[in-house]
Amino acid sequence: MTGIVHLRGARSSLVVGLGPGTPPILHWGARLPDDTGSIEAATGPAIPQAGLDEVVRVTVVPSGAEGWTGHPGLEGAPSWAPIMACQGHELDGSTVTLRLADATAGLGVTVALTMDPRTDVLSVALALTNDGAEPYRIGGLAATLPLPWEASEALSFTGRWCREWHEQRHPLGVATLVRENRRGRTSHDNSPGLVVGSPGFGERHGEVFAAQLAWSGNHVLRVERLASGLAYLQAGELLLPGELTLEPGERYETPVLYAAYSPDGLAGITASFHAFLRARPGHPQRPRPVIANTWEAVYFDHDADRLAALADAAADAGAERFVLDDGWFRGRDDDTAALGDWFVDERKYPDGLHPLIAHVRSRGMEFGLWVEPEMVNPDSDLYREHPDWALGGPDPRLGRHQLVLDLANPDVRAYLLGRLGALLDEYPIAYLKWDHNRDLVRSYGHAQTLGAYRVLDELRTRYPGLEIESCASGGGRADLGILARTDRIWPSDCNDALERQRIQRGFSLFLPPELMGAHIGGPRSHTTGRVHDLGFRAATALFGHLGIEWDLTAASPSERAAVAEAVALHKRLRPLLHSGDVVRLEYPDPAALAHGVVAADRRHAVFAYAQLGTSETTVPVPLRLAGLAEDTRYTVTPLRIGGDRFGPMKSRPAWLTGGSVLTGGQLAAHGLALPVLHPEHALLVELTAQ
Ligand code: DGJ
Repeated sequence: MTGIVHLRGARSSLVVGLGPGTPPILHWGARLPDDTGSIEAATGPAIPQAGLDEVVRVTVVPSGAEGWTGHPGLEGAPSWAPIMACQGHELDGSTVTLRLADATAGLGVTVALTMDPRTDVLSVALALTNDGAEPYRIGGLAATLPLPWEASEALSFTGRWCREWHEQRHPLGVATLVRENRRGRTSHDNSPGLVVGSPGFGERHGEVFAAQLAWSGNHVLRVERLASGLAYLQAGELLLPGELTLEPGERYETPVLYAAYSPDGLAGITASFHAFLRARPGHPQRPRPVIANTWEAVYFDHDADRLAALADAAADAGAERFVLDDGWFRGRDDDTAALGDWFVDERKYPDGLHPLIAHVRSRGMEFGLWVEPEMVNPDSDLYREHPDWALGGPDPRLGRHQLVLDLANPDVRAYLLGRLGALLDEYPIAYLKWDHNRDLVRSYGHAQTLGAYRVLDELRTRYPGLEIESCASGGGRADLGILARTDRIWPSDCNDALERQRIQRGFSLFLPPELMGAHIGGPRSHTTGRVHDLGFRAATALFGHLGIEWDLTAASPSERAAVAEAVALHKRLRPLLHSGDVVRLEYPDPAALAHGVVAADRRHAVFAYAQLGTSETTVPVPLRLAGLAEDTRYTVTPLRIGGDRFGPMKSRPAWLTGGSVLTGGQLAAHGLALPVLHPEHALLVELTAQ
């Protein structure tokens, strides 16, 4: 090797070796001194018995031709094991770009590595060019990062419709953990992110390494511990056989892999990713308007008077944005027809949307509209006119009675931009709820994902103030690729507060609360049938980008007053909730969850304790808080929404009457004694520095 490049964050380092061969990654992990001394000599592994007479390291594009027995960084044909020699590099601030090539194979790769010095988020982006004379069929091009051997436990997400973002742990032996998404959209069950760390890593302990692939199509995440003692993490787009061929001169760019290291558990990963996302120029800046969404209030039953009354009730409750969900366009009376026909239904809206929008705006709210542009129902004028615009071949499979439009086709994109543009030109629409309700089957995903990105990017360029929500049957498209062009995620169609407690906790690992839609639904959950008090529903939704999804016109006056109370509380706390540090507490009782948000200056915080089921103990284990300033004295105030209905109790801890003062150190050491709560109830606590 002839040198190294050392990229530094505040608490992590990445060191890449430079020389004629493929650059090895000598270190990714704890922050190193500026002078890395003899790092190359110290990290060069021994040559094993019964193996090649070569030193094998984790490189930026590991190749079997170098003796690498893990998964290759680049797969393809005809050159299936190219060796990417380093041609040179450029160092520009916190970014190093490595130029690699295999002259014999006629392939070139650039690898751009950036360590964001403020947040410690490392980004890895690769590009492949076909410099040869023959076509090159790409099997995959993935970002590869080394892991220490101690990283022997992984956390990944699983889920399904109405049960997204559930964490699962995987002990790792000498084995490979592979998470593949083949649904063509990001998916409910294979989120493109994971964490690997020391065994038993938790919120505030353990050395952890996390990664998120910014891509909304098929992907593969891989963690492998090799018998040689090397371990690595790899992520990239999953390309189906024959999906991508580079003609001579053509280039393929990978989605960006974002990664972070934390020496002190998951809290550090959350801090890095939240700070990184919040620092993006496109991150929502103004307060997140409280939403009233019509879906669970009226479904497809769009009646102008009823919607106006709903808008009135929403405005009275303090809503700031009224979102007209599915059912407004020509022929859309249920989910079997009309997708693609993006014209206002004259039967339901004889004067177009003008009267409703005028009413909504006269009540001080913005107007938002639901769309699902990538889809078409066979029973639609669009499909009858352009059956060839649908993907899936001659015998396509339906999902929710619909097909997927081919967004690689410029005519399709032009049609969608034309229709959406016409709506946005005619009406003052501040927000689109952009849905995607089925998987891709019998079709490739690469060009489709890029096509969707192009439509979204073009719309945002043409309508700079427009906000967009990413929804896909709930949380089926939640990733950093879609978030580069949208302003919020709908994490789940489940508004059941009990389910939402876990869903939102998982969501918060990588994504900040201001990007997380969270609605107060009706008393009986439409997706689970459970009945919850308003206090629990509101205390759960309060922490996200708040909304109401409930037919408030049918609610009692006291319920409406309580919703207004919850909305007012959210608005008061919103500056804290949407800028502070998310703290997930490790409460010892599995029958409860606890979390909070602490302001950056540590002078204000709010915590929630949610009783999910019955506890083992008769008296709840005290709530020990984290993230507060050790010596700061806080006034501790319980918050109430919609009355105090925690259930019958003989006595309550004295601090619940208010006025207690405790230091952050005390709140961490002995914590707060808790009242006995009925299952599926929550307690909110506000802390204000004296
Ligand atoms: C699925 C979404 O997740 C729901 O919120 C709603 O918008 C429906 N689609 C409408 O069809």
